Parts: sequence; C-alpha cells; structure tokens
Amino acid sequence: MKLFDVYPINPINITKAMGSSVWDDQGNEYLDLYGGHAVISIGHTHPHYVDMLKQQLDRIGFYSNSVEMPLQRILAEKLGRVSRKEDFALFLCNSGAEANENALKLASFHTGSKKVVAFSKSFHGRTSLAVAATDNPAIVAPVNETENIIFSAFNDVQALEALFADQGDQIAAVIVEGIQGVGGIREASEDFLKAIRRLTDQHGAVYIADSVQCGYGRTGLFYSHDYAGVEADIYTMAKGMGNGFPIGAISVSPKFKASYGMLGTTFGGNHLACAAAIAVLDVMEQDDLMKNAAEVGAYLIEKLKTFDQVLEVRGRGLMIGIELPAELNQVKKNLLLESRIFTGEAKPNVIRLLPALNITKAHADQFLEAFAEQLQSQTATV
Ligand SMILES: Cc1ncc(COP(=O)(O)O)c(C=O)c1O
Repeated sequence: MKLFDVYPINPINITKAMGSSVWDDQGNEYLDLYGGHAVISIGHTHPHYVDMLKQQLDRIGFYSNSVEMPLQRILAEKLGRVSRKEDFALFLCNSGAEANENALKLASFHTGSKKVVAFSKSFHGRTSLAVAATDNPAIVAPVNETENIIFSAFNDVQALEALFADQGDQIAAVIVEGIQGVGGIREASEDFLKAIRRLTDQHGAVYIADSVQCGYGRTGLFYSHDYAGVEADIYTMAKGMGNGFPIGAISVSPKFKASYGMLGTTFGGNHLACAAAIAVLDVMEQDDLMKNAAEVGAYLIEKLKTFDQVLEVRGRGLMIGIELPAELNQVKKNLLLESRIFTGEAKPNVIRLLPALNITKAHADQFLEAFAEQLQSQTATV
C-alpha cells in the first residue's frame, strides 16, 4: 500500500527533537519556528511532558467517557485558571475541526437556529460544517456545501450590522479567528470583535472564538480574542493544547445547559491526552510562557519592521506574518534548505512564524540574522 498523496512535502526526515531544535536523519540541526503548524507550544520532548506521558502510559492509556475521569477534572480546573474562564465548562475532543464542529452544533442546539456567519479568508478545519465555514471553495466538497453558512467581509463592522439587520433572527452563531492564520496572519480589530459581541447579544446568537491557532497563550493572552475586552460564548482550541498529542476542546460559557447525548466522542479526553494537556499547562504556568511569548514576539515584530524589503509585519506575540514582495518568493524555501530554519507560509508570499512559546531572544536573533542574509542574497539575484 502507498500513501494517499495529499501533501506537498519537504525532503527532510526529522528523527530527533528537543526544545526548538530538530535534527534530520543526516544529523543536521534545524531551528524550528513553525512547530509543526503552531502545535509545539512548550518545546519538543520537554522532560516534564515526556515523564507525564510515560508514567500515564504505564498506568492506563485509554478508557472511554463512560467512567470517572479525574484527569479531565484536573485539566478543566487548570485550564479554567490559566485561561481566566473559571466559570466556563470544558468539553474535550481530538482536533481543531472537531472543536469547531462541536461549537457550531452547540450554538445551533442552544438557539434553535441554523445560520452561521463566517468571514472572508477564514479557516476553521476540514470536517463538514467547519469546512463549509472555511473561505476556500477548493477544499469544500459538494456534500459540504450548505446555505446555512453566510460569509461576510472580515473586519467590516458595517457589513456585519447590515447582515444582522436583514437575517439576525435566523443566525445561530458567528465564528471568527482572533488572528486569521491560514488567511495570512490578519488580526480581527477590537472594534470588529466588540461589534460581534454586541450584535450576537442583541439577536440571541452565539459568539464562537476560534482559538485553534491563535489561542493557547501564543499572543501573550490565553485567547487572542480577549484583547478586545469582550468575552466570547465558546472558545475552541487544539494545536498547542497537547504539544503534539492530538487533543482539542471547547470552553463553554455558563449560559449553555448541557444534556446527555448532546455532544459526545469516543477518544476525546482519554487518559493520555489529558496527561499531555496537563503537562503543557504545568510548564506554561511554571515558566510563565505567555509572558515570554509576548516579550520575544514584540522583540521580533519590532526588528522585522526595520527591513526595507518587508512589505508588512502582522500579528501579535509569537504569531507573526511577514509579507514579502512576489519577487522574493524563494526566501522561505532558502531559510529551510540553506539556513536550516523551519517557518510556515500563507499565500501569496507571507512567511508565518509559529514557534514554541519558550523560544529565547537568541533564537529570535538567529532567525533575524538568517532572514537578513536570505533577503540580501535573493535581492541580489532579482
Ligand atoms: C484557525 C483554525 N481553526 C481550525 C483548524 C483545524 O484544526 P485541525 O487541523 O486540528 O482540525 C485550524 C488548522 O490549521 C486552524 O488554523
């Protein structure tokens, strides 16, 4: 059997990792500022994380949600504290798409309505409703197409007001990323998030904060949406939550009433997943990683803004987009193959930095130096 060929891949086989370093099978070391797509939050193979997982695996790895799960309660208690949502409730699942799917479903159960507002350049995942709410027709299969999703322009308060004036009584939810990731690191303005809060309140709809990529402390606050000073009804999360162990969740406002059978999962919240997520929160708290993300991120953003060739630097904390002109389209590739630094990308020519939250200023300087070299060498050849 061969692999179903759905990914363009880099010709690199990573066999070892530690902190923000990874090594290939030839022994070459790379600086990882991508974290496997914003997943590595506390650094690769963190000793506390490895210990917790090994010890848990020795005791029990999995049982379903039909028995007492004290680890889930410990996780909920820690997550409530670190995210400052102690009165919210936790539902555990396995991925970001699944978190959004559950959030949308809950919003529809709660309101009895069917329509969902999503925004231009949004990405919410690849499962049925999550992909329908994703602004990329190329990844929406005919069976996912639905009239229940209404797209509106991102950061356009007037367009959203007009939409609610017209169809507000049918809207179950508005789903929005605090900073669009796949869309190119574009931050939702504070006015826009405040308008979402105001309009959903006025019309009895649910405000869903997709924090799968921009959340989990990456920007310096646990949820980047909270910079706007208003609270969402449901926060969805995944990526950084398990530092590579698949886990996702929704954090649900006390205004929602749970009932048996409303949501469910076989694997979600299993023992190993909880141990991974607890270890992540332990390290985030002990090492004050949100503060580090804010500080190193602000340093990187400030320095990146000084490069003449850079068109725009966007983002917050350690979620950074560097927009380059079309002719400098080899910089990302050369950073990887020549400077041995992993970064992410967004179309058409945005370099995305999504490193672990404990990268140091020295890592930032290593990147800045390599970036300057690559800009110079490509500028010389165009
Ligand atoms: C904002 C956002 N939401 C949802 C998802 C889907 O997450 P997953 O791939 O874990 O299903 C992603 C993945 O990139 C994302 O960036």
